Amino acid sequence: MIKVSVLGYGTVGSGVVQILRENAELITKKAGQGIEVKSVLDLRDFPEDPVQELIVHDFEEIKNDDEVQIVVETMGGLHPAYEFVKASLESGKSVCTSNKALVAAYGPELLAVAQEKNVNFLFEASVGGGIPIIRPLKVSLAPEEILEISGILNGTTNYILTEMTDKGADFDSVLKEAQDKGYAEKDPTADIEGHDACRKIAILTSLAYGKQLDFEDIYTEGITKITDRDINYAKKLGAKVKIFGSSKKAGDKVSAMVAPKLIMPSHPLYSVDGVFNAILVKGNMVGDVMFYGQGAGKLATASAVVSDVIDESKHVNVNMKTLWDAEKLALMPLSEASSKFFVRVHGSREEVEKKVKNAFGAVTPVDAGYNDEFGFVTEEITEGAYEKAANEVSVINKIRFEG
Ligand code: HSE
Repeated sequence: MIKVSVLGYGTVGSGVVQILRENAELITKKAGQGIEVKSVLDLRDFPEDPVQELIVHDFEEIKNDDEVQIVVETMGGLHPAYEFVKASLESGKSVCTSNKALVAAYGPELLAVAQEKNVNFLFEASVGGGIPIIRPLKVSLAPEEILEISGILNGTTNYILTEMTDKGADFDSVLKEAQDKGYAEKDPTADIEGHDACRKIAILTSLAYGKQLDFEDIYTEGITKITDRDINYAKKLGAKVKIFGSSKKAGDKVSAMVAPKLIMPSHPLYSVDGVFNAILVKGNMVGDVMFYGQGAGKLATASAVVSDVIDESKHVNVNMKTLWDAEKLALMPLSEASSKFFVRVHGSREEVEKKVKNAFGAVTPVDAGYNDEFGFVTEEITEGAYEKAANEVSVINKIRFEG
């Protein structure tokens, strides 16, 4: 029997306890032995919940409990999660976590401690919630040189953009509705500014290339500037606006960014709507593979955590090496990345078309019925060239276009 401690009895932690109980029989068969929650760390008490008999308030009790072989960290935040995870690994316990902030910031260090102690540090739930993506990237796609990762990695923003598209609503009212329904956080900054997706693409890219991509180094643009006019232009183009976390191999460097993009129906992620997430990975041998599912939610995320618990229970005293060194991954300067751009500038077509063509070269106008502005799509140009041309005109907004 494997004994587990859960740190944090919040949404995901309580989901882990629930799955380990409700699916105990099949988990026992698949793991080859029973897996039992021995203790749950939380500052609070839960008198109405059977979990109460397992509640402890002091992490030291768990750290010093030699019976506990696996620690599940579902507290969130960096501290004390980092200290508890590190101490657990150092005391010879395997750890699994759903905490993307922790993994993005301390992944290589915690993996090194796990390797040294011959235990495991797994984090399937840290990206894409219930979608299996970390293990496939590490194991199933191990023979591949990863050429590209493109992901709709945030459910809140995908929901907002989908509602804006389907209902013609504006950003602020959809955000408010999403908060009222509990889809969006009270403080939605990390989601709508792209910070959440940024940490997720940092983790995936680091794993794909085995070196550290610091999330602070990734160009990140959220969805707060997307308006109903942008959505109407997208419709005229037959496109949808989606926010992507993406990275791409570029020679011996990698380009990475988080930004809204316009995609056409032929794009594999075009039909990923609402709160769903999806990730497209391009390998040099296998070609395109796609992963789709619920990127958040109690049981979906907890299921991914429990998959790690089962994996760790089958690898007691065997470190499953994860290639992710602290050495920094070489990033291509943003100015060298290229794409087509959809751009809206102030002034009617008659007034500004000539100036636009002088600045951007050949462009394809898009008419969405607005007389006070001019919308167009550029040819494929670099970010540097875009910035230079954009300085010549009065830009209202721009969205990268994968046409
Ligand atoms: N807030 C995230 C989202 C879920 O909306 O996708 C946790 O990563």
